[in-house]
Formats: sequence, structure tokens, C-alpha cells
Amino acid sequence: MKGLILSGGKGTRLRPLTYTSAKQLVPVANKPVLFYGIEAMAEAGIREVGIVVGDTAPEIQAAAGDGSRWGLRVTYIPQDAPRGLAHAVLISEGFLGDEPFVMYLGDNLLNKGIGPFVRQFEAEHPAAQILLARVPDPQMFGVAELQDGRVVRLVEKPREPKSDYALVGVYMFSPEIFTSVRRIRPSWRSELEITDAIQDLIDRGLEVRPHVVDGWWKDMGKLEDLLEANRLILDTLQRRVEGEVDEESRIEGKVVIERGAVIERSVIRGPVIIGAGARITQAYIGPFTSIMGDVKVRDAEIEHSIVLEGSEICGLASRVEDSLIGKNVRIHRMPVKPSAYRFMLGDNSEVGIRW
Ligand code: G1P
Repeated sequence: MKGLILSGGKGTRLRPLTYTSAKQLVPVANKPVLFYGIEAMAEAGIREVGIVVGDTAPEIQAAAGDGSRWGLRVTYIPQDAPRGLAHAVLISEGFLGDEPFVMYLGDNLLNKGIGPFVRQFEAEHPAAQILLARVPDPQMFGVAELQDGRVVRLVEKPREPKSDYALVGVYMFSPEIFTSVRRIRPSWRSELEITDAIQDLIDRGLEVRPHVVDGWWKDMGKLEDLLEANRLILDTLQRRVEGEVDEESRIEGKVVIERGAVIERSVIRGPVIIGAGARITQAYIGPFTSIMGDVKVRDAEIEHSIVLEGSEICGLASRVEDSLIGKNVRIHRMPVKPSAYRFMLGDNSEVGIRW
């Protein structure tokens, strides 16, 4: 069985971060989201993975390489524009051949992996198998209507959802899917929707098996999703303190401090991960925070946030919370008059000032 990971798309809801970086490479607990998908494939025993890439191809390729790190082989499949998930399947036909395959959207995260899902498919050979999860906002997803445990209808982002079962971005297909992706027409958003292709399998009388996820599932649509995924993953960490911690600091709970990080006169209250080369001085790092390598936090407090490489947060009077801070960002106190906020923010940035 082969694997197909979709890693194109523009990530508009995560701008400005996604102006300079692929959404699939935004780190959750200091690891790119995409790597969780590749790991899930490796754990399920898949050895041949195709990654469909768009504008951010060079960056994705530089990050994931040839896949040997995970014991599998990666082939990159370029998509000229975001023409939809079913279009991605169509252009991958040469790579996939006539084998069944598992398709994984590169911005999805599942805590339980995909092993049992893949094995069920291999044992039962339906035309397709879909994963479903109950969500409070089904109109944001593909939605499945079930009757007596069978899928009767699938609709992409319906205005009036008929159920709260969202389609998770992990699918299993037999080669029948190629006939269906050729039969469908582009949707209102001018994309060939995989949801429509699966509906076509049903219309052709083929079997589409539903499987409801029993752990949690997240897709990295927007900031809140990313922070929640970060929270869920950090909660699963084992304590590991390999960096330097001075006598005046306190490390509480599930905390990972990578080798080469330095903690001085600070309180770190887990779950927290702090990457190599970070320096935390006279600071408080609170629960559910991921600090990547080479970040400096001095005279500041930060909680429930993600800070990317090379940023500096120094001398703040209020705690930073619920934040995603990109690479090489500087947030600092300026002891000059007039006393005022001074910003240099990229397009689509958002700043919330204390009330
Ligand atoms: C895509 C699918 C949708 C699915 C979702 C899961 O949506 O079209 O059916 O529920 O992924 O992440 P998109 O990310 O393209 O909006």
C-alpha cells in the first residue's frame, strides 16, 4: 500500500505566517505538522509516500528530504495550482498505479495514528474508507450523512449540515477513485473536491466504509486550532531536561528542555517544550507553551503560546498569552519618550493590547 500526503494549499487563515512559510511546516510542540503525518504513515508500515506540493515545494522538500529519516521513500508530485484534493489524486495516478492507497492531508493531526484504520481497509477491501469525527462546526468541513451505520451522502461545507460528522483529512482508496475523480466537476470554489469524488463512488453503488475516530483530531485551519493541537501534543510529552538549568530556576511538571538551551532565574511550568539554543532569563514560561530553538525570553512571562526560531521577547509589563509568534520577531520594551506603542507588523498581522 502506498501513501499520499497533500502539502500544497495557501494557508490563508494562518497569515502572515504563511506568507513566508508553508502551513504544513508550522511546528506543533516544536515539530512541523507535516512530520506527524509522515510518522503516522511509517508506523502503519507504509514505505512509499508521495507528497503533493505547490508553491512551497522547495521548503517542504528541504524539510522532509527523501524520507529515509522515517525509513520510507518520498516522491514529490508538483501541483501547478490549488485545484482541489481530487485533482491532487488525479495527478498522482502515475505514482500510485493500481494499488490501494491512504491519503493524508498534511495539515491534519490525529493522536492515535492510522494503523488500525489501514489494517481494517486491507482486511475488508471496500472501494473507500473514510474517517469521521463529531465537531461543533460541521459547516466548516465535508459532512457525512449516515443511515444505519452506512454513508448515504457526503456534502462539502454544507450551509445546513445534516449531521455533525466531519470528514477527517485521512482517506483510504482503491483504484476505483480514479474513475470517480474523472467524473466529477469543479465546485463553487473551482476545486475538484474529494468529497464529491467519494459521493460518486456511492452513486456508482460501491462501498464507502465510515470509521469514527476514537482519539482526538485537529486540522490546522486557524490559530486556535494550532494552539489546541499544541496543547494536546505537549500533554503527551515525557519530562526530559537536558539543557542547563541554574539553581535559582524551578522546573515544574512535564517539561522538555533540549540540550543547548539555558534557563536562568526562571520558572518553567509544564507542559512546555524549549528548543536547543533558547535562552530563558528571569522569565516565566507557563503551561502549553512551545519555544523553538534560538529564542530569547528575558524579563517576560509567556503562556499557552508558540514562539518560532530566533525571536526575542524582552522586558514586557504584561504576560503574553494565546499567541503565535513567527521567526525572528522582536517584542521588547523601549525606554524612550514619548512613551507609545511602536509596531512594524507584516500584512494581516494581529496585535491584541491589554485592556
Ligand atoms: C478539506 C476537505 C474537507 C475535510 C477537511 C479536513 O477541507 O475538503 O472535506 O473535512 O479538509 O481537514 P479544506 O481544508 O480544503 O477546507
